[in-house]
Amino acid sequence: TSAACCDLILFGTLGDLARRKLLPALYQLEKSGLLHANARVVGVARDDIDTSAYREQVLASLNKFMTKEAVDDEVWSRFAEKLHYCNVDLKDIAAYQTIADIVKPAEGRTPISYLATPPQLFSTICDGLSSIGLTKQPARVVLEKPLGEDLPSSCAINKQVAEYFDESQVYRIDHYLGKETVLNLLALRFANSIFSDQWNHNTIDHIQITAAEQVGVEGRWSYYDDAGQLRDMVQNHLLQVLSLIAMEPPTRLDTENIREEKLKVLRSLRPVTADNVQDDTVRGQYTAGFVADSKVPGYLEEEGARKESSTETFVALKAHIDNWRWSGVPFYLRTGKRMPEKRTEVVITFKRQPHNIFHESLSQLPPNRLIIRLQPDEGVEIQMMNKVPGLGKQMQLKPTTLDLSFYETFENKRIADAYERLLLEAIQGNQYLFVSREEVEHAWRWIDGIRAAWSHLGELPKSYQAGTWGPVASVTLLAQDGREWDDDA
Ligand code: BG6
Repeated sequence: TSAACCDLILFGTLGDLARRKLLPALYQLEKSGLLHANARVVGVARDDIDTSAYREQVLASLNKFMTKEAVDDEVWSRFAEKLHYCNVDLKDIAAYQTIADIVKPAEGRTPISYLATPPQLFSTICDGLSSIGLTKQPARVVLEKPLGEDLPSSCAINKQVAEYFDESQVYRIDHYLGKETVLNLLALRFANSIFSDQWNHNTIDHIQITAAEQVGVEGRWSYYDDAGQLRDMVQNHLLQVLSLIAMEPPTRLDTENIREEKLKVLRSLRPVTADNVQDDTVRGQYTAGFVADSKVPGYLEEEGARKESSTETFVALKAHIDNWRWSGVPFYLRTGKRMPEKRTEVVITFKRQPHNIFHESLSQLPPNRLIIRLQPDEGVEIQMMNKVPGLGKQMQLKPTTLDLSFYETFENKRIADAYERLLLEAIQGNQYLFVSREEVEHAWRWIDGIRAAWSHLGELPKSYQAGTWGPVASVTLLAQDGREWDDDA
């Protein structure tokens, strides 16, 4: 399906996100024939360059950041034709006229403004867009994170944008919602009765969500130090994944129904308070160590670091969803920088068999596990017990794995980057993979509760050596419930 014709106005086009992710994603859409022949990408920034210099910069970014393939000459020449540049000082309302000279709302194309800028600029940009008529239906606006740093600031941002755009025009990005296997969660749950019928507290013992990264702060110390891992990863990505796992079946796979179900999950999250914060949460900060055989500095020794920072680079927590389906089933979340490997996965652990009829020495059979690997090596795994083939006095059992790797199962299928999917959905006007205002605000409410409880506690984060799975307390978090993190070896 070729996309509708649009003008994509890319604010912050020379920034890191645009160069690393957005422009390569647009190039891939062009390559797959998914950009309309007359679509335009209008880069907006303050640098005093012209369109031909901009095209050169975009080409340089593609060469640098598309690591798996070379830029194809023919695709590039089609794509380059679509690229335009506007030099705009965002605070100067009159300057937006340069954009209007290229993007004319009357032409029957949808103007989509992508704000890959700090949120402090959103209101100013909306004002500028409004002055050139680019906020009126059918115009759309795509908002990048961070959408605030707590509930009040996020409400303020949403309110400012709402002065110019109706909620039906607003597309809030959470790039995890564009990941192939995150979407596969929906297919697994709702297209397979073996799972859909078991997806509740009767059968499931607990659920783990891990988002481990090898990288540290990557030169973003000052942004990161203000945010920390809880706000940078849990408020958005982990809670979105959790919502998709935990939600009730939506009536249909559309924006309204999915958002409504995800919102109910966020509303059911049990607040973390001064009473349970000590038992249910762990904050960590990395010290120097080794990641992938390289020596790396500690968080406080990173470039630009403030030596006394108590920002967390690791979080583990036990979340409870207080509703009928999940009563008594803990969701353990953990995410951190400088972990031993890059691994994002969801592990569903089923309850054990009530009684063991097998080998006497096996007092307890291991539970079945369903593992959904988001990255790397996208796929789904089921861990189950099997009989070891052969004769003998006693039957021997062995834990084995049914492994469905997407690369192997769906041969030759390139796995698209999350941003490709999300840009395409925004161009096509499908909002279901974008986050609603209410979801963002409910997520912040829960996160603010955790932060308030932490500050009440007044403890420094626990240190962990770079290249390990976080502070020992993270192990204890599960051990106190008689459980352990999946596969830390
Ligand atoms: C971003 C965070 O939203 O997600 C980064 O700001 C983090 O700190 C990144 O590294 C992780 O994304 P992914 O797709 O690599 O898991």
